[in-house]
Amino acid sequence: MGPLSAPPCTQRITWKGLLLTASLLNFWNLPTTAQVTIEALPPKVSEGKDVLLLVHNLPQNLAGYIWYKGQLMDLYHYITSYVVDGQINIYGPAYTGRETVYSNASLLIQNVTREDAGSYTLHIIKRGDRTRGVTGYFTFNLYLKLPKPYITINNSKPRENKDVLAFTCEPKSENYTYTWWLNGQSLPVSPRVKRPIENRILILPSVTRNETGPYECEIRDGDGGMRSDPVTLNVLYGPDLPRIYPSFTYYRSGQNLDLSCFADSNPPAQYSWTINGKFQLSGQKLSISQITTKHRGLYACSVHNSATGKESSKSMTVEVSAPPGIGRLPLLNPI
Ligand SMILES: *[C@@H]1O[C@H](CO)[C@@H](O)[C@H](O)[C@H]1NC(C)=O
Ligand SMILES: *[C@@H]1O[C@H](CO)[C@@H](O)[C@H](O)[C@H]1NC(C)=O
Ligand SMILES: *[C@@H]1O[C@H](CO)[C@@H](O)[C@H](O)[C@H]1NC(C)=O
Ligand SMILES: *[C@@H]1O[C@H](CO)[C@@H](O)[C@H](O)[C@H]1NC(C)=O
Ligand SMILES: *[C@@H]1O[C@H](CO)[C@@H](O)[C@H](O)[C@H]1NC(C)=O
Repeated sequence: MGPLSAPPCTQRITWKGLLLTASLLNFWNLPTTAQVTIEALPPKVSEGKDVLLLVHNLPQNLAGYIWYKGQLMDLYHYITSYVVDGQINIYGPAYTGRETVYSNASLLIQNVTREDAGSYTLHIIKRGDRTRGVTGYFTFNLYLKLPKPYITINNSKPRENKDVLAFTCEPKSENYTYTWWLNGQSLPVSPRVKRPIENRILILPSVTRNETGPYECEIRDGDGGMRSDPVTLNVLYGPDLPRIYPSFTYYRSGQNLDLSCFADSNPPAQYSWTINGKFQLSGQKLSISQITTKHRGLYACSVHNSATGKESSKSMTVEVSAPPGIGRLPLLNPI
């Protein structure tokens, strides 16, 4: 500790207190049997929550303790200390107003922030005679629970093979590595997926109806990982070439004609029927009961998807045979 070299910005320090703490700094080789351990409760804390750094097996007959942020025990990293005689708390430049040191050396950190993660050093000062005081140092690493990441997509309804998609994994931090998952498989497997170096943004140059997901992103830091909720895409596609059922085209007079049209499409296509180019009706089904030869012609089903702007159509020629005997009618009934 070098209080004399400290800049004037460290008003929080009680200089008297610091000097008092400094006077306690006698050197002490802790017996190897003393197993001071530090434990965080909870072991991993979420941002905004509180954490208690519990000190176990504290030796007897101590003069005080000092907590430092990090492993450097200099003035700048001095958080707070506790002096047993007089039960005094002394605060240093690294004190944020959220730390409390208890008489049992445990340190409470309230409303934890990202910056609180990392190492802490506890400096234990044992009472000793002036020349042979003893002291011990214990470092501890505080881990923050990773936040649960989430995915944002710049287009919630991409059109198949048309729209370029950008997925972004939040939150952003230089301390995370980002990985992406599609259907539980790590990406990229496909060379179509270009990933900017940072990896936080996944760009899909195009997407097909089969690639709706689920997509997940995962963040990792040195200590662990956390995966986002899965995200499923609503890929707009089609209509594909429609099909007409039944597909047979020969009918006899008097039969009923019941045609259905189907085209794969998201959202579902709008359907319409024409006969010989003349609009007949809207809808998927076309029914004509007891058809006659005058119903012969080119039947076409047209499909349209306004979300993709695509349309398609399919036609078939319906033949209707005359009923038996009808071919002879002109002979029976000459004009
Ligand atoms: C130290 O004191 C705090 C506050 O009273 C308490 O919550 C904690 O359990 C104590 N630590 C130990 C190791 O007893
Ligand atoms: C916790 O910290 C945040 C910002 O770091 C602040 O907005 C909030 O008011 C604090 N909450 C409490 C209970 O201190
Ligand atoms: C989404 O991001 C990609 C890649 O940056 C871009 O090409 C595309 O135009 C964006 N789409 C929208 C709807 O902003
Ligand atoms: C990343 O880690 C460094 C060193 O541990 C820390 O100083 C910095 O605040 C962290 N950045 C973010 C965005 O968490
Ligand atoms: C979707 O997957 C099916 C079955 O795996 C495949 O037959 C079809 O060609 C795929 N379609 C597209 C548009 O990729």
